[in-house]
Amino acid sequence: VSLRNFNTFGLESEARYFAEPQSVEELADLLRDTKYQQTPKFILSGGSNVLFSKDIDALVIHPQIKGTETIREDEEFVWLYVGGGEVWQDFVNYCVDHNYAGIENLSLIPGTVGAAPMQNIGAYGVEIKDVIETVYAISIATAETRIFSWEECQFGYRESIFKKELKDQYIITGAVFKLKKNPDFNIEYGDIKKTLAEMGVENLSIKAISDAVVRIRQSKLPDPAKIGNAGSFFKNPEIDLLQYELLKETFPEMPGYPVGPGKVKVPAGWLIERAGWKGYREGQIGVHERQALVLVNYGGGKGEDIKLLSEKIRRSIEEKFGIVLTTEVNFV
Ligand code: EPU
Repeated sequence: VSLRNFNTFGLESEARYFAEPQSVEELADLLRDTKYQQTPKFILSGGSNVLFSKDIDALVIHPQIKGTETIREDEEFVWLYVGGGEVWQDFVNYCVDHNYAGIENLSLIPGTVGAAPMQNIGAYGVEIKDVIETVYAISIATAETRIFSWEECQFGYRESIFKKELKDQYIITGAVFKLKKNPDFNIEYGDIKKTLAEMGVENLSIKAISDAVVRIRQSKLPDPAKIGNAGSFFKNPEIDLLQYELLKETFPEMPGYPVGPGKVKVPAGWLIERAGWKGYREGQIGVHERQALVLVNYGGGKGEDIKLLSEKIRRSIEEKFGIVLTTEVNFV
């Protein structure tokens, strides 16, 4: 089975086996199936954070567990259980339509609900860890289900236990979200306020913020349906305050945001742009012209070449700034 339409980079890769379980029961049966006992399993959700550079000699599981259900509510909050196979943006729209606040800043992020906690998706000052309560998962090895509390998920910047100790061990089948009925709007980050003003918004609403975020994203980030990409290719690095201050002597306009004592987060997009890579093109692949943190496949590019380009960029950033970038995208 070709995975070309199952990854937002649009890269060619063949899966040995491919399955789309529709429920937790179907998924458990598949994991227990003796036919696949010896076969490695690879979980592919929205495919918006992977870089394929070869065929996948495994059972590729593309979970389709759907459904959104209210499990509890009071005056202030609503708790929703959402199936892991739901498309993230469909869930955002559901919340916007119901006036449930908390994820409007996470509008238009590609991928699924199940993949979102894996890397604690975040944008415009909000992370999924701010609204998630519990994560439902199933063990790939034993097909046993398990509920992870918020603490057990060990969320960090683009991190969770599912990327660390429990890497490749669990499939997220769903999650419970706690959303607000009376919003406190989060519009401090970046261009949100400016964009709301441009849109002529006078009365703030969840819908208005969602629309503003969509507008900002569309202006900077390439639409994967048109140009293959996986969003930010690298994480924004955290460096020591001392190193930041030294760098500021050479690069006075270098942006940085304090994160914890003595640590500063620097936008990788700025470093990559400053090192001259923005808009760089090499055949069918390159660096996006409006957001240097995004590597793109114009069509027909190879995963291997994107990987090589990312290594060149990484070396160049290390030489110029002494900062080592780590990737956000998962190499397969
Ligand atoms: N910048 C540049 N040149 C560029 C890109 C960015 O100078 O080519 C500078 C901007 O001027 C700005 C700063 O870098 O001062 C931050 O840029 P932006 O707001 O576009 O966000 P980012 O730090 O590049 C992060 C996330 C995005 C998320 C945005 C908005 C990571 C790795 N990326 O990007 O997440 O949408 O913030 O919150 O943290 C993703 O994870 O795939 C993703 C797109």
